[in-house]
Amino acid sequence: MNLPSEQNSIPVPQPVLAPLTSAAIFLVVSIKPDRESYATVRSLCADLPGIFRAVDFRRVEGGLSCVAAFGSDVWDRLFGKPRPAELHPFREIRSGERHAVSTPADLLFHIRARRMDLCFEMVTQIMERIKGAVQAVDETHGFRYFEDRDLLGFVDGTENPRAGAALDAALVAGEDPRFAGGSYVIIQKYLHDMSRWNALPIEAQEQIIGRKKLSDIELSDAVKPTSAHNALTTIVENGKEVKILRDNMPFGKPGQGEFGTYFIGYSRSPRTTEQMLENMFIGRPPGNYDRLLDFSRAVTGSLFFAPSATFLENLGDAEPPTTADNPPPELNQTSS
Ligand code: HEM
Repeated sequence: MNLPSEQNSIPVPQPVLAPLTSAAIFLVVSIKPDRESYATVRSLCADLPGIFRAVDFRRVEGGLSCVAAFGSDVWDRLFGKPRPAELHPFREIRSGERHAVSTPADLLFHIRARRMDLCFEMVTQIMERIKGAVQAVDETHGFRYFEDRDLLGFVDGTENPRAGAALDAALVAGEDPRFAGGSYVIIQKYLHDMSRWNALPIEAQEQIIGRKKLSDIELSDAVKPTSAHNALTTIVENGKEVKILRDNMPFGKPGQGEFGTYFIGYSRSPRTTEQMLENMFIGRPPGNYDRLLDFSRAVTGSLFFAPSATFLENLGDAEPPTTADNPPPELNQTSS
């Protein structure tokens, strides 16, 4: 995690813009509903930069990064008011056979490095601090597959925005100044039906994704269907393309027939990713949906907010929120 400069009043983001890596762990947990557990998690948040520095320094060339992000239901209880303007629970979508499920979760740790040992150690140290206060909801270990391909065989990440455009796509700015430098994160874990996918001719697969499989070159508009994945996930507002920043990773257990893609999208507003999901699952226009979903099933879906690193570092000095206005569920029940 980057260190914020104390002289500089511009909030330093968490390493949301870190490059694609060869290893990643996505750790999703929920916080136990009692005061002490919330205090434990809060104190971890304040100490996270220090833990990061200790693990990172053991292999500085390993490119470790760690982003911590928080769900709507726990924001107020952890940090009090104000809250990020657009933070809300993930909205499920049902359309025909397709279902973007919403799976409740409180905290996401997105840990990336060139080596899995660094990711593994970071998760170990995080869990050492909070294991009594949380329940693990999901932990997925992702890996690089050849030239940044997903398990469907296509290069994944090509059209990600870069440099200034990435910053503009992923980070909140003046529209919500108290949370500037933060980022909305949507995750979905997808499982692929590889037998059916592999039974498709390559040309049919390319029409679904919208790019050539081997060369990764985009299909021309003349041959690309309007239902292609890269057509439905292109969002244009007021004549300008609005992008998100993705860091998908393959995962799986071939011995158990599990082949998946862990989708993670950072965005300045969750609305952009939500619009992409509507286009994929419902269709643009409705019915013209993403055929990728005939071969891929979402088994999780959650929305989080990753505040700036400055926000997390300042937690150590700030008063914890009073629980009177926003008690954890357990305290809610006892008071009614
Ligand atoms: C089964 C899960 C998914 C797989 C395997 C997948 C794979 C791909 C591939 C191969 C590309 C083309 C290369 C590239 O530009 O990165 C792509 C592009 C893209 N995907 Fe996905 N994707 C998945 C889910 C999603 C979801 C859930 C979203 C958003 C909600 C999304 C948003 C995008 C965007 C924005 C692009 C770039 C479009 C462009 O500007 O050309 N993807 N994806």
